[in-house]
Amino acid sequence: MRIGVLTGGGDCPGLNAVIRAVARRSWSRGHEVVGVREGWLGMVEGLFQPLGPDQISGILPRGGTIVGTSRTNPYKLERGTERVREHFEELDALVAIGGEDTLGVAARLYADFEAKVVGVPKTIDNDLAGTDYTFGFDTAVAVCTEAIDRLHTTAESHNRVMVVEVMGRHAGWIAVTSGIAGGADVILIPERPVDIAEVCSDIQRRHARGKLFSIVVVSEGCELPGAEDKGEVDQFGHKLLAKRGVGEALGEEIERITGFETRVTVLGHTQRGGSPTPRDRVLATRFGLKAADLVDEGAFGQMAALRGDEVIAVSLAEATAELKTVPDEWYEVGRAFFG
Ligand code: F6P
Repeated sequence: MRIGVLTGGGDCPGLNAVIRAVARRSWSRGHEVVGVREGWLGMVEGLFQPLGPDQISGILPRGGTIVGTSRTNPYKLERGTERVREHFEELDALVAIGGEDTLGVAARLYADFEAKVVGVPKTIDNDLAGTDYTFGFDTAVAVCTEAIDRLHTTAESHNRVMVVEVMGRHAGWIAVTSGIAGGADVILIPERPVDIAEVCSDIQRRHARGKLFSIVVVSEGCELPGAEDKGEVDQFGHKLLAKRGVGEALGEEIERITGFETRVTVLGHTQRGGSPTPRDRVLATRFGLKAADLVDEGAFGQMAALRGDEVIAVSLAEATAELKTVPDEWYEVGRAFFG
């Protein structure tokens, strides 16, 4: 068999660990593995690269993706899906590693012409349904938690409020998890409307009991008057954020209403770069092996997923039908420590 591997969407620590696992298991069965460059763009344009032992060697701990990535949506391009279909003829199977958008395309291609595709769930946002966790999330939470710990000591020294903006466009998994782990005094997620009066009164209550500094963790996807996106959307229709993010707008409001000196830190792409944590390396490896097994079994239209401690197969259609948002029980764990 000739098996293609592509990575699409935002990069994520652990992508290379998946590629390595797919390649090693597939080689052991006598198959050939090729890299498809830059996500779905590579399938539109037929951008294949050899993936042999030389390319795979040493990539387990490496961040990013050795085959490149993009946010290309073939359904938005002139003859996009026809060209993808033509290039499928050069492969016996494709492993698509991505989040809701990349795997949404995979699910659609499978529904349209039974494309021989298997999915692997990736996103630091952890918002993909069908799996308990995606790899990359643990690394992002570790980066954010370390940042929150560091911000604590400087906040305390200066009696300041520190606003920390973390990633998460539609779901607040990174904010709620790193906020709980880092002992945040307020956590704001896109699933819940921001009530600025409540945020300020939580901070004031804390100051009234003698704590003269506070940490506020906010997901980039929270909406607040004064925050501005770029006014553009990507090929999947998502707003491009970050012209003047919610963190800046929130920090200004907190300072104006409470009078407490406030600083803002936007963690941005530091959350996505660098080496994966051991947990993400292991999860990515298990997903890669499962994807190679699904290909070998001819179980197309399926995705590797984590349920409890087991790696199982779920249908791509089911996994991409809706986003996995933060349930109230999770938010309540963080909220128990507000103010
Ligand atoms: O989808 C993952 C993600 O990390 C989001 O949390 C974030 O909004 C987005 O990617 C930003 O990606 P980029 O800057 O690459 O467009």
